[in-house]
Amino acid sequence: MVEDRELLRVENLTRIFGSGKSQVRAVDNVSFSIKEGEIVSLLGESGSGKTTTARLILKLLPPTSGKIIFRGKDITYVSSRKELLNYWREVQAIFQDPFSSFNIFYSIRRVLNNALRLVSESISREEREEMIKEVLLSVGLNPAEILDKRPYELSGGQRQRIMLARVLLIRPKLLVADEPTSMIDASSRAGILNLLMELRNAYGMSIIFITHDIGLAYYTSDRLFIMNSGKIVEEGDAEEIINNPKDDYTKKLLEDVPVIHRKWEL
Ligand SMILES: Nc1ncnc2c1ncn2[C@@H]1O[C@H](COP(=O)(O)OP(=O)(O)OP(=O)(O)O)[C@@H](O)[C@H]1O
Ligand SMILES: [Mg+2]
Repeated sequence: MVEDRELLRVENLTRIFGSGKSQVRAVDNVSFSIKEGEIVSLLGESGSGKTTTARLILKLLPPTSGKIIFRGKDITYVSSRKELLNYWREVQAIFQDPFSSFNIFYSIRRVLNNALRLVSESISREEREEMIKEVLLSVGLNPAEILDKRPYELSGGQRQRIMLARVLLIRPKLLVADEPTSMIDASSRAGILNLLMELRNAYGMSIIFITHDIGLAYYTSDRLFIMNSGKIVEEGDAEEIINNPKDDYTKKLLEDVPVIHRKWEL
């Protein structure tokens, strides 16, 4: 499933916020690469720099220094609207807070039609409507109930499912999924994750999961990257890291897991 071709590489990626004493090195000299069809997880405590890394990769935020190479091309300074749209056809996101990611005045029908337009202008209206209904069903939503609503009329979990529907329509090469199921009830979570993993199997999509949830990371990922204070402190095979963590921070992160489980059982 994992191809030997590199899809994305970041080199010495750094993002500093603020200046002087209040300076934060949110992402500090981070380098890694992801292959086609590979699923990796970026794990770390709150504030370790995971979302900032995602925003840099998605080109929603410029880096202070470093490089982003996608399919062999340096895209760090790509900035024209046309080139960015081309990039976003290949690299899509599901966010922690999906509310900020939609135009709140658009109906869900319009949001999803716009997604399809990004892929192809030549699909007829009727075909688009059919494709949209099909993906809504596959993410567990009722088209008749959802299509004419606006994002603010939906629950957080429903909005995350709409983001997932977008991904199914656009079929990007890379999905950056930042806590993609944080607002979805535990009973539906596995179904959503399986749907994402099927996309890897079906057409070789690569996924970067960003999460606090070590169980999720272990269940879904080929490799893990452990992040602490903006740096990647350990990386490697998911199984190997969970069973035999080397870095002290990773050990601490893993020790917290039983505590989390106890909390969940209350
Ligand atoms: N726009 C910003 N301006 C200033 N500081 C920022 C900004 N965005 C993030 N930071 C800081 O950068 C650091 C990393 O934040 P980031 O959101 O990347 O963490 P995270 O690992 O995603 O955390 P969480 O697990 O809570 O989502 C934090 O110290 C945060 O306060
Ligand atoms: Mg975050």
